[in-house]
Amino acid sequence: MKDNKTIYKVGLIGCGWIAEDKHIPGLIANKDVEITALCDLDVEKAKKLAGLFGLEKAQVYSDYKKLLTEADTDIILIATPNPLHCEMTVAALGAGNHVLCEKPMATTKAECEEMIAAAKASDRKLTVGYQWRYRPEALYIKEMCEKGELGEIYYAKAHAARYRAVPKWGEYLSGKNGGGVLIDGAPHALDLTLWTMNNYEPASVKAHTYHKMAQKPEGNIWGGWAEDEFKVEDSGFAIITMKNGATVYLEAAWLINMLSGDMKTTLCGTEAGVDMFNDGGVRINGIAHGKPYVSEPDMSIPGAPFAIRPVAPMYRETQEFIKAIRDDEEPFIKPEEAMVVTQIIEGIYESARSGKEVFFE
Ligand SMILES: NC(=O)c1ccc[n+]([C@@H]2O[C@H](COP(=O)([O-])OP(=O)(O)OC[C@H]3O[C@@H](n4cnc5c(N)ncnc54)[C@H](O)[C@@H]3O)[C@@H](O)[C@H]2O)c1
Repeated sequence: MKDNKTIYKVGLIGCGWIAEDKHIPGLIANKDVEITALCDLDVEKAKKLAGLFGLEKAQVYSDYKKLLTEADTDIILIATPNPLHCEMTVAALGAGNHVLCEKPMATTKAECEEMIAAAKASDRKLTVGYQWRYRPEALYIKEMCEKGELGEIYYAKAHAARYRAVPKWGEYLSGKNGGGVLIDGAPHALDLTLWTMNNYEPASVKAHTYHKMAQKPEGNIWGGWAEDEFKVEDSGFAIITMKNGATVYLEAAWLINMLSGDMKTTLCGTEAGVDMFNDGGVRINGIAHGKPYVSEPDMSIPGAPFAIRPVAPMYRETQEFIKAIRDDEEPFIKPEEAMVVTQIIEGIYESARSGKEVFFE
């Protein structure tokens, strides 16, 4: 059902790091939205963001259920720890809102299914915050894949390994976020990889997780942590076999002794391969006219594909979601796709726990 409004009223649940860094800047840059409500268990955080961004008119809540009952909203953004995503999304949809839920969509496939069913039942839109798909290089690779320029993609690598970047705030280290790096950075890299390959049919996964670096806070870009604070995995590695026989290797670490390679994908096809650079840009390789070539397209010059540097990913996220709501289209980031990312992450944890390969239905 089309929901055509001039201004969409937005409520934000969870006023932590990503709310301040992505959501509120993205929302206030968008002329089609007005932030009418902010909620955080720690109400001072909601008040702080209201003050910081001049949102004096927004209602402030500590209880999200009260926000859903009392506040005037069309869209709810959920930016709370991962185990709360399902419960809050289902409640927000049930109260008649469209929902943009932060990544990962949830902690289990069953939760994702519940969220998708709630969106269908309420005839509201649901999307997930995988904003790195809007990066120019990601869009460029996606177009190459759609045109078949890589041929058959039979190997890919999802990169989510950082040299020293452990998020030490909130519940990242405590275990109350549903896990460690595999439920934090890994979903972004996996989302980019599955989306560009357009392959959402995993057959099995075999994985290992590690807790080896938790006593080594030196050099972390966000500062150190207390010795007993780090309760989750700091790294994990998985081999995911897809039903068509393709292999996806996932490498995830918050801190590891190697060069950072984060939020990136590498795709190897029968006709060509692509790598993403850490600082943006793409490297393409293959054979042309009988000779090997390597090309690095310049996406900054007008006229090149995706040249008009698109709005920053964080701004585009809300723009795209509002477009889907207005035009009654499927969101750019479909919940069914985000669900497969969560299903694989759930399988990775199960495989690491059991020591066995996990097979998907
Ligand atoms: N898209 C991205 O690139 C990206 C980046 C970082 C985080 N995230 C996601 O955003 C979410 C939040 O991450 P963060 O880094 O902002 O964490 P954070 O700890 O800084 O913020 C979470 C906030 O939720 C609040 N909260 C907890 N329980 C609540 C409840 N019951 N009701 C209301 N508020 C509650 C906390 O008080 C906190 O302020 C996570 O799901 C994370 O995976 C996404």
